Amino acid sequence: MKTVMVIGAGQMGAGIAQVCAQSGFNVYLNDMNEAALEKGMKNIEKLLARAVDKGRITDKEKVDTLTRLTPSSSFQDAKNCDLVIEAVVENMDVKTSVFKQLDEIAPAHTILASNTSSLPITEIASATSRPEQVIGMHFMNPVPVMKLVEIIRGLQTSNETYQAIEDMTHKLSKTPVEVNDFPGFVSNRILMPMINEAIYTLYEGVASVEDIDTVMKLGMNHPMGPLQLADFIGLDTCLYIMEVLHEGFGDSKYRPCPLLRKYVKAGWLGKKTGRGFYRYD
Ligand code: CAA
Ligand code: NAD
Repeated sequence: MKTVMVIGAGQMGAGIAQVCAQSGFNVYLNDMNEAALEKGMKNIEKLLARAVDKGRITDKEKVDTLTRLTPSSSFQDAKNCDLVIEAVVENMDVKTSVFKQLDEIAPAHTILASNTSSLPITEIASATSRPEQVIGMHFMNPVPVMKLVEIIRGLQTSNETYQAIEDMTHKLSKTPVEVNDFPGFVSNRILMPMINEAIYTLYEGVASVEDIDTVMKLGMNHPMGPLQLADFIGLDTCLYIMEVLHEGFGDSKYRPCPLLRKYVKAGWLGKKTGRGFYRYD
């Protein structure tokens, strides 16, 4: 494993590309949106400069990391890659279209991984001719800080693919956890209903945004309150995950809160758009 391509330069893709490049891999960072690609690359530079200021890395390490990173606007760059990690929007149609294209371009040995938060890996894999080389590699946000990677086996994922991704996770100085292919895996099956419940608590007028977050921060020692965390993750992503849980389990306990739907419809997607439960201007 020498060269990695990351598809999607949003908050997750940029973080994954940064961590891979810092760990010595050559990385192509791809986005179909030029402005998003530029923003992703700038964010990486900013975070590396901060790490230099804090004395965590040397200036040379920063320069070497940036040298290993190449912005990409074409999936054709997958031709040069041993691993592709997809981190585009949480939507099955978009992801299967990306995997279908990558399958046609990437060399036969290349592993295709998805950073999906909740979507079935087995279904994503079925869009390709190499389902045994398709796997879930679920990083947590913010990627440079969070230690966990959930590794999700699809129905046909081979042991060789699993082992290669587990080894890669260790090389990124992260801790892997093996998970079977179920809606929301482990992380979001547990986290997202809590966030959705916090939104219902607000919707039903039980307490204010700030007070709900304060209860969970001071009462449960969570680093962020659930509404702040929802803004941080992205309200669109939270809604898509709740929809996957709701549809996947067919249980009404996973119904997304109408207030979450309303905010997403309004374009209030959280921190990334400047407004969610809080304002970021
Ligand atoms: N990107 C990179 N680094 C970041 C960052 C970001 N977005 N935000 C904070 N950091 C870094 C800071 O630079 C800082 O590093 P230094 O010590 O070098 O300065 C460090 O993290 C701590 O940051 P702060 O002191 O500013 O703030 P904090 O102590 O409150 O920590 C936090 C910030 C780590 C994000 C913390 O609030 C936290 O752990 N929040 C919860 C995060 C969480 O639950 N993530 C999982 C989300 S769910 C998910 O990812 C799965 C999914 O599918 C939706
Ligand atoms: P984001 O909205 O910040 O970024 C998505 C990026 O993908 C955008 O820049 C968009 O232009 C790009 N994109 C969309 N379609 C594309 C395509 N066909 N080709 C190339 N680029 C394309 O989203 P995000 O928060 O980074 O989430 C990305 C994925 O990671 C989702 O599957 C999400 O569920 C998952 N995830 C998110 C979090 C989180 O906390 N936000 C945590 C773990 C996993």
